[in-house]
Amino acid sequence: METLLDLVNQKPIPEPWEEGDNIPWDEPGFSQRMLAEHLSQAHDMASRRAPKTEEHVRWIHSEVLGERPTRVLDLCCGPGLYTSRLAALGHECVGIDFSPAAIAYAQEQAVASQVPCRYVREDVRAAEFGAGFELVMMVFGQFNVFRPTEACTLLNKARRALTDGGVLVLEAHALSAVECMGTSGASWYSTAQGLFSPRPHLVLEEHFWHAETKAATTRFFVVDVASGRLTAHAMTTQGYSDDEYRSLLAESGCDDTSCSPSLTGQEDPSQPDFVVLRARAGSAHRPSQRRCPAPQSTGADRAARGPHLGTERTLEYRMEPNTNTNNYEHLALPDTGGTVAERIDELVKALLLQGEVPWASPTMVLLGQYGHLGGLAATQMLARQAKFSVEDIVLDVCCYVGGPARYLAATTGCRVVGVDRDEKSIAIARRLTALAGCQDRVSFLVGDLYQVH
Ligand SMILES: C[S@@+](CC[C@H](N)C(=O)[O-])C[C@H]1O[C@@H](n2cnc3c(N)ncnc32)[C@H](O)[C@@H]1O
Repeated sequence: METLLDLVNQKPIPEPWEEGDNIPWDEPGFSQRMLAEHLSQAHDMASRRAPKTEEHVRWIHSEVLGERPTRVLDLCCGPGLYTSRLAALGHECVGIDFSPAAIAYAQEQAVASQVPCRYVREDVRAAEFGAGFELVMMVFGQFNVFRPTEACTLLNKARRALTDGGVLVLEAHALSAVECMGTSGASWYSTAQGLFSPRPHLVLEEHFWHAETKAATTRFFVVDVASGRLTAHAMTTQGYSDDEYRSLLAESGCDDTSCSPSLTGQEDPSQPDFVVLRARAGSAHRPSQRRCPAPQSTGADRAARGPHLGTERTLEYRMEPNTNTNNYEHLALPDTGGTVAERIDELVKALLLQGEVPWASPTMVLLGQYGHLGGLAATQMLARQAKFSVEDIVLDVCCYVGGPARYLAATTGCRVVGVDRDEKSIAIARRLTALAGCQDRVSFLVGDLYQVH
């Protein structure tokens, strides 16, 4: 959409998520301007002001974490206003966010104040969360902007990142607040410079309430005053009742859910739009076995999932006997720091250099475990575009040592079967998958693809 005429001719009512996922948090210029809003002490628009954040952190530290030093993962952490404070209280924190300016700021602060915080700039929908956290948190309503299928996958990944008995804290929008958002009237403002543009512009906003699916969509039209050029953004916020939140958490493998009116445990009249859900990661069931509920199907949601890659059916393999006797159990992750995936990458590079894996070449060494053109970035793009979920079973043909298979399973919750005719690659793929701890979702077969039916 580029002109006012496009605006006049647009579809009267957008479908949820049809016209966009969110405002452009991850766009560098926007994220830089948004950082100023996060840090502003004049309002609570992007992040809360310092006194409120401190109140929340005190409650999390004492009531949720019992004042014990723990490992904390903050999803959509912004500029690290919660993580930096939790780290100062002795917790080891990891924050994930896809805003470049917010993550750069968070990293600078962590270095300057020498607190144990690590930040990852990535889309939480595609990111690997790792494991061993005693608290996974997502605050300030960000959970609701994800499509229901994505939200479910995020909860499953959060559960897998938690230790058994660890706590998930979700500060989500109350259903009444989402309805209020969707039923607000249209509005506009003009400004010489602002969040959406550093130049004089108008912002026109309109809201829609999809009562059937309990979702609110907001359209933002930004009109550049000098050129008249129009930029459109849209975001949808999904509403859930408290019972629906509870069942989503239970489905992901988290039990004992309790609801609080705010992140202080008390009613907070200044924060009426949220509900805080606190659930414990149960050891009884693991999310990898669980299915996300069927998406509330809209044309947009289906389109956003991309082409369906095939209906589930039985595949017959003509398998070659695996004559490779080396099961590579001696392989261990190098002690190089970083995530498990990064350390696996290092290990594969070392194996390539030792001639242990076939096709060693400088390019393959660069690509590490993601042995295809584009490497990890292409795998991330596939995960983003295909939007697999725990409902999907993916067949990775010519899977090599299983990097993409593990990435897709870890980030989307899908199950993956990798097939390759190179026995050594498959034996290494199995060992690496055991090291990554995702054997329950990723398996490998030695097979000649000319013989797969
Ligand atoms: C309202 S701010 C809250 C930031 C922080 N939790 C706080 O309360 O200070 C929402 C944050 O979510 C991040 N975000 C939104 N969608 C995301 C995604 N798909 N992956 C990673 N971060 C995302 C934005 O970049 C932004 O920093």
